[in-house]
Amino acid sequence: MKRALVCGAGGFIGNHLVTELKREGFWVRGADLKYPEYNTTDADDFAIADLRDPANCRAIIDGRFDEIYQLAADMGGAGYIFTGENDAHVLHNSAMINLNILDAASKRNCRRIFYSSSACIYPDHNQRDPLAPITAESSAYPANPDSEYGWEKLFSERLYLAYHRNLGLEVRIARFHNIFGPLGTWTGGREKAPAAICRKVAAARDGDEIEIWGDGEQTRSFLYIDECLAGVLKLTRSNYLGPVNIGSEEMVSINQLADMAMAIAGKTLHKRHIPGPTGVRGRNSDNQLIRRVLDWEPSAPLIVGLEKTYQWIEAQVHATSSVNSMAA
Ligand code: NAD
Ligand code: GDD
Repeated sequence: MKRALVCGAGGFIGNHLVTELKREGFWVRGADLKYPEYNTTDADDFAIADLRDPANCRAIIDGRFDEIYQLAADMGGAGYIFTGENDAHVLHNSAMINLNILDAASKRNCRRIFYSSSACIYPDHNQRDPLAPITAESSAYPANPDSEYGWEKLFSERLYLAYHRNLGLEVRIARFHNIFGPLGTWTGGREKAPAAICRKVAAARDGDEIEIWGDGEQTRSFLYIDECLAGVLKLTRSNYLGPVNIGSEEMVSINQLADMAMAIAGKTLHKRHIPGPTGVRGRNSDNQLIRRVLDWEPSAPLIVGLEKTYQWIEAQVHATSSVNSMAA
């Protein structure tokens, strides 16, 4: 039986990845500071472990893993990474995790390790035109990410590549572009725009207003979790070494995203644009490289994943409000 280790298995993508690897027949060990928040894990073994501690990384990694997936990070959406308030923790925590995991994986002669980098590594100056952002993999340098989160991801990409060059580890690196779906963080400050907007729409009554950070004309693309997992597994098992975008090319403005959520909900709401952390002005995945090297691209439009996500978040919002009304 093949064996996989998923670091960050208590988080959104890691939790889904464990389920997918189990479906494929793997024996899976998960590791995280916490269990998944919204469901139980499918992992065969789950280590509650702080991966900033090198001893914990050595304890969870043995040489018998066919695949290691490193998703653990101190991360969040714009409200967490663009305020500047969490920079020291983000840099320290995520860098420590990557340093420790790579050290343990190479000493235990592990074969293959996947690392989740981010579209946040791309230079700020290439993402100022909301209609024509540049995110080709080759445009990463000269580097100029707009957040410390992006700088840590760029440093760690280099770390993984150095372990490949000097110590022979097979590394695979994806630059994720805003992944969303059910079981993702939807409240609490770390949620990203799709979840935040679904939550606001679900909580509003027809005719109410919802708050949008910025003028809403900033653009992004969003990739549904199932598509992300398909890309991750294909990349990990491929021979392609360099960092590659895993994202959608369906770019929308945040106002359009809100309109889509309202249409799904069947509500007409007014958008109130307020100051907030906005990050880059425009971002879209450039999938030319991944199409060429892996023959992969997302299969469904944004609306399909957004409908499933909205239904899940609406259920969470209603469950939370009925608990609150029982307590009142
Ligand atoms: P997430 O926050 O849901 O999951 C990350 C997990 O890492 C959390 O469960 C957290 O508890 C765990 N973690 C943090 N510090 C830890 C520590 N010291 N020891 C052990 N575990 C620790 O995030 P996600 O959306 O599932 O993202 C997974 C990975 O993909 C992250 O590396 C993230 O930076 C990257 N990424 C995600 C997106 C996205 O849109 N979701 C985009 C770009 C990159
Ligand atoms: N989170 C959030 N909440 N964003 C909002 C809101 C809101 O209520 N209203 C408007 N926005 C805007 C933000 O200001 C930002 O301009 C845009 O929606 C997208 O915000 P996020 O989804 O939070 O983050 P991001 O796309 O800037 O960055 C995310 O994606 C990266 C990869 O593409 C983050 O999750 C990063 O951690 C990730 O690496």
